[in-house]
Amino acid sequence: MAHINEAGIRKIHEICDRYANEKTPLMMILSDIQNEYGYIPLEVQQLVSERTGISVAEIYGVVTFYSFFSLEPKGKYIIGCCLGTACYVKGAQQIIDKFSEILGIRAGETTADGLFTIDALRCIGACGIAPAVTINGKVYPKMTVDKVAAVVEEYRAKEV
Ligand code: FES
Repeated sequence: MAHINEAGIRKIHEICDRYANEKTPLMMILSDIQNEYGYIPLEVQQLVSERTGISVAEIYGVVTFYSFFSLEPKGKYIIGCCLGTACYVKGAQQIIDKFSEILGIRAGETTADGLFTIDALRCIGACGIAPAVTINGKVYPKMTVDKVAAVVEEYRAKEV
């Protein structure tokens, strides 16, 4: 979606128009765009702004505040590492560091092959099984540094 074509513009307009009667449509519009395209680049934010009259600054603020939204395309597998307090005290930082070391990317980045993104999350409400990691919604409870390589392999193996 680097350069949006006519069909893409029509689709963005259609999503904006879906919520034209809502008092606060922005979250719904951005959620639909995120689900449709997987990310919300500046070019798209500009289109939403023109269509809705909401300033680009406000749209940008929302997109960058919520980790659900992304400015960049995300990987096929999104590794969510909880860095909330309960997970942090049980070694979550070492776990996210291990994912970074194995994949060669930092939190918020995506591997060059488009397979993995690492997201640092706030508490995901699973403190009882800390430290918690999720991959595309699947929860890995009581994660340890030693399990990280095997978990990455589990997903790489799906691709061969
Ligand atoms: S702090 Fe990680 S699930 Fe609550």
